[in-house]
Amino acid sequence: MGEVHLIDHPLVAHKLTLMRRKDASTSSFRRLLGEISLLMAYEVLRDMPTHEIDVQTPLEHTTGPVIDGKKLVFVSILRAGTGILDGMLEVVPGARVGHIGLYRDPKTLVAVEYYFKMPTDLHERDVVVVDPMLATGHSAVAAVDRLKECRPRSIKFVCLLTCPEGIAAMQSAHPDVPIFTAAIDRCLDEHGYILPGLGDAGDRIFGTK
Ligand code: URA
Repeated sequence: MGEVHLIDHPLVAHKLTLMRRKDASTSSFRRLLGEISLLMAYEVLRDMPTHEIDVQTPLEHTTGPVIDGKKLVFVSILRAGTGILDGMLEVVPGARVGHIGLYRDPKTLVAVEYYFKMPTDLHERDVVVVDPMLATGHSAVAAVDRLKECRPRSIKFVCLLTCPEGIAAMQSAHPDVPIFTAAIDRCLDEHGYILPGLGDAGDRIFGTK
């Protein structure tokens, strides 16, 4: 069974509740998503490799650990992944970025790929895939299927919200990929939306509805 990390820190939970509100404005929704992503990054990147460098403080010489941000790749599933990507890049500005364009066929809910662009040498890099909603799991599974063809060093999946159906789909297709989420909601509705959820994340981030 793949790992599921529920990041239920009170600050994250508080901001998520505000985002769920139907009347949250586009700007506050986007700002809250950025803030939550930044907070989640601490947990997601907890095991990031570090190496020691020499440091001259005002008082003496020492060494200290630093990360190699370039070894990290945030892969945003378009378009809603952008909302999480921006927050994560605030804490690791040197990270590389990949994009996967997938849309859900409205009838079958199956993910169809229209864009795929990754940094080179993925086999030397750790990948964090970001998408706010792990709902049916179709997009997440398709994205990870495709990424695995590039053989990255590791893959993690980060979402804001998921549900038992999304977790089951990912765990059955990719049990080796840990999932990080701020909440696990009740279920999916007949259109593949998470309940109680927060509606269409892309529309809410970009104000397209
Ligand atoms: N995608 C969304 O944006 N919201 C959902 O509830 C499910 C999938």
